Amino acid sequence: MIECIELVKRYGKTQAVDHLNLHVDAGEIHGFVGPNGAGKTTAMRILATLCAPTAGDARVDGVSAVHQPQQARARVGYMPDFFGVYDNLKAWEYLDFYAGCVGMDAKARRKRIDALLDLTALSGKREAYVDQLSRGMKQRLCLARAMLHDPKLLILDEPASGMDPVARAQMRDILREIARMGKTVLISSHILPELSEVCTSMTVLQRGKKAFSGTMTELEKRLHGAPLVIRLTQTPDEELARRAAQRLSELLGSAPAMEEDVWRIETQEDVQRDAQALRMLMELGVPVCGFAREHATLEQAFMEVTGAYEAQSHL
Ligand SMILES: Nc1ncnc2c1ncn2[C@@H]1O[C@H](COP(=O)(O)OP(=O)(O)OP(=O)(O)O)[C@@H](O)[C@H]1O
Ligand SMILES: [Mg+2]
Repeated sequence: MIECIELVKRYGKTQAVDHLNLHVDAGEIHGFVGPNGAGKTTAMRILATLCAPTAGDARVDGVSAVHQPQQARARVGYMPDFFGVYDNLKAWEYLDFYAGCVGMDAKARRKRIDALLDLTALSGKREAYVDQLSRGMKQRLCLARAMLHDPKLLILDEPASGMDPVARAQMRDILREIARMGKTVLISSHILPELSEVCTSMTVLQRGKKAFSGTMTELEKRLHGAPLVIRLTQTPDEELARRAAQRLSELLGSAPAMEEDVWRIETQEDVQRDAQALRMLMELGVPVCGFAREHATLEQAFMEVTGAYEAQSHL
């Protein structure tokens, strides 16, 4: 559904997007993360036909946003990171105005507007003036606006920014509902744990380049795997610790890093072998009270990916 091919955008000396290649399948909720200035907004604006790239191509549903912007625009709904709403319009009038702009006939409008107000949990605010809506409500109204022409792809630039946890959870539910409707969603955010709950895949951008692209599980496993962490009720005596370390090394192929009552082993996850290791520790009389694979949080994985990338680019 989304394809970027050697996409480049330069602003003077700034390389906002740097030979970006991206592929997102239809039906994905794809996260776009990266530090400030990574090029997320720029790439999204190019896909939404709002900005022309310096080189390369960006395609939506097989249609080039660069060479066939009209056709591409029909396939994309875009919600910018900063938006204005008109003061003296009611919620439904605001949507009605934009429905007119996208050429929807009067009959179809009402039905569509009611469906979108319902989807974005704004039915109760139909008659409210838009300037009196809360920030979260305004964001949802803009989402409804982006969906008026029934696009296949929704591009949402930081839709959760400035929202309280309840509003964010509500946005998450709405995005899931949108995915169930068969849409593809590209969503940027700094709030990484937020993305991990709602996204099916993601791309990490770093200085306009792709540092990672894949499923959430792949990202979490990417660099670190998941170390085995063994917690003890107390620090065992030296002799017991030495014997346990030796047996663990033999069994798991890697020596544990022992810090008093927490032992950590960097090995590939293997359920059978892990179970064997636990049995062995019990038999030796090691006072184990915790035995688990510690999966990195999305935040950690993100740091790893961008950090590793920085290191690579300095070679
Ligand atoms: N209109 C512009 N003119 C000049 N430089 C720009 C313009 N728009 C973006 N840039 C530069 O391009 C780079 C990428 O900016 P972009 O807004 O795409 O990043 P971002 O990932 O969306 O950042 P943020 O997380 O802060 O929203 C930055 O260095 C920015 O200063
Ligand atoms: Mg941005």
